[in-house]
Amino acid sequence: MKTRTPLIAGNWKMYKTPPEAAETARAVAAAAAGAAGVEVMIAPSFVCLTETAKALAGTGVFLGAQDIFWETEGAFTGEVSGPMLKAAGCSHVIVGHSERRQFFGETDESVNKKTRAAIREGLIPVVCVGETKAEREGGLTLKVLDRQVRRGLEGLSLETVVVAYEPVWAIGTGLTATADQAQESHAFIRSVLGEAAGKNVAEGLRILYGGSVKPGNAASLMAMPDIDGALVGGASLSAESFGGIIRFGG
Ligand code: 13P
Repeated sequence: MKTRTPLIAGNWKMYKTPPEAAETARAVAAAAAGAAGVEVMIAPSFVCLTETAKALAGTGVFLGAQDIFWETEGAFTGEVSGPMLKAAGCSHVIVGHSERRQFFGETDESVNKKTRAAIREGLIPVVCVGETKAEREGGLTLKVLDRQVRRGLEGLSLETVVVAYEPVWAIGTGLTATADQAQESHAFIRSVLGEAAGKNVAEGLRILYGGSVKPGNAASLMAMPDIDGALVGGASLSAESFGGIIRFGG
C-alpha cells in the first residue's frame, strides 16, 4: 500500500497562448474536482503563468513552471528566477527536462544549481532523468540514471523533491515503457535516492513516470509500487484526456 500522494503533472511545453492556457486550466480544474487523493499540477509556458494562476485560483490545482534560473535577479537576458515564479503563482518547477538537456545544453551540473535554487525559494522541483534509446540499447540505463540522480541532486536536502523518470525514447513517440520497465527504473532511482538521502526520506519521495502516458495506460503504470504519478506531455493539452489520466484511466 503506497502512502505517497500521487501527483499527476501536465507539461504543456511550447503550446498554448495565455488565453488558451487559461481556458484549458479551467477545464482541467473542473476535471480534477472530482478526483480525491491525487494532486494535480500543470506547467504552461512562462508567458502563460499569470493568466493560468488566475484561472486556477481556489481550485487546488497546482501551477508549475517549465524551467528556472539559479540566480535571483540580475543581467541574465531571457532567464526567469525563482522569486519571479513564486510571485507569478507557481508552487512547482520542472528542472532538467530531456528537451532542455538535448536542445539547450542543460547538464547534471546546471540541473543541480536549478534544483538548489528551487528548494531555496520554496518551490517543489520536479527533476527529470531518463536514458536515450541508444543508452537503453547499450545496456546503460541504470548507469545513466545513477549519474543523473547523484549529480543532479548532490548536496541538496531532498525532502520536497519530486523525480520524474522520462525515458527519452518514450517522449512524444507513442512508445510507452512497459509498466515493468518503468518499475525497474523507478525502484532503482529510489535506491539511489536512499543512498543519497537515507532510506526513510527516499521512501517518502515521489517518482513520476513520463513518456506517452495516456488515459489507456495510466492505470497499469500507477499500479506499480514505485510509480507515484505521471508527468504528461501531449495528453495533458486537453482536459478530456488529462482528466482521464487524473482518474488513472478509470
Ligand atoms: P509525452 O507525454 O508527450 O510523451 O511527453 C512526456 C514529457 O516529456 C512530459 O514532460
